[in-house]
Amino acid sequence: MRTPRTRRRHRAARPAALVFALILFGSLYAAIAPSTQVAADTGMSAQVEEGKGLYQVTCSSCHGLNGEGTSQGPTLVGVGAAAVDFQMTTGRMPMARPGMQAPARANTYTAQEIASIAAYVATMGPGPAIPASSAYDYSNLTDEQLARGGEMFRTNCSACHQAAGAGGALPHGKYAPPLTGVEPLIIYEAMRTGPQQMPVFSEGAIPDEDAAAIIGYLKGIEEQPTLGLTLGGLGPVTEGLAAWIVGIGGLSLVAVWIASRGALKR
Ligand code: HEC
Ligand code: HEC
Repeated sequence: MRTPRTRRRHRAARPAALVFALILFGSLYAAIAPSTQVAADTGMSAQVEEGKGLYQVTCSSCHGLNGEGTSQGPTLVGVGAAAVDFQMTTGRMPMARPGMQAPARANTYTAQEIASIAAYVATMGPGPAIPASSAYDYSNLTDEQLARGGEMFRTNCSACHQAAGAGGALPHGKYAPPLTGVEPLIIYEAMRTGPQQMPVFSEGAIPDEDAAAIIGYLKGIEEQPTLGLTLGGLGPVTEGLAAWIVGIGGLSLVAVWIASRGALKR
């Protein structure tokens, strides 16, 4: 008795359910799946694409089309977004021409252009990322932590950057620049990426908390110019690179003068 009734309902229900299911899945797919996928994909790859385009025009002549490096510049595989952000924000890169040392210059790129090149270089290989500001926040440090920052600075940094971060000469005509007036993010990125002769200080060597303490110590020195003056011994450290170049120039003149007197005596 029940069998024919069920079969009749079954026969009619099957195509309806199928159509319903098709419409449901079809519209679900159309509404959700592709749109989120497209949004995620183009959001990411548009930035990387833009960065790749800029990279090929401005950087690849020295660093290679795929970041493999050339005789004009080192490989960028694995340097990370932080290295690009450091080098470009401080105007070191793109280097105008190969030379001994890429000096900090005025940066002519927008934050967006730098971010896209950094995102593209980050796809070449894993390396330090651009940190969140919480990683190097030094605003709530205690006096003890700041004192520890000073200790860490004297142990790890002052051999090259001198006491009070006034900057100093290195062998082969190179130099460690003065650290006054340098943005906290840039100080953090310099530690994590180690430009030129500067060693890389990884999180294992200097954890974020100590990195923030070093930054806090350096910012504290800036607020007491007399301390910088007596310790730096190179004139007002706030004049930064200008004072440094004048100082080097003066010393060279003295050296030349001494050398010429020595030659006359002989
Ligand atoms: C004229 C050649 C030249 C050009 C153009 C150039 N670079 Fe460089 N780059 C160098 C040299 C040489 C070094 C290594 C010396 C130094 O760090 O000062 C270097 C170093 C770097 C480093 C540091 C690598 C590391 O191991 O930490 C980064 C990052 C970098 N360049 C990114 C870029 C980016 C991004 C561009 C394009 C916007 C660019 N460079 C354009 C020559 C160049
Ligand atoms: C072996 C020498 C050496 C040591 C040690 C060293 N640095 Fe450096 N540092 C350098 C050199 C050289 C440069 C310049 C690199 C360049 O021009 O590409 C530099 C650059 C920097 C810059 C970039 C400044 C600017 O004007 O953009 C910062 C910030 C910095 N160092 C901080 C530190 C801190 C903090 C420490 C300790 C944790 C440290 N350095 C230890 C040699 C050193």
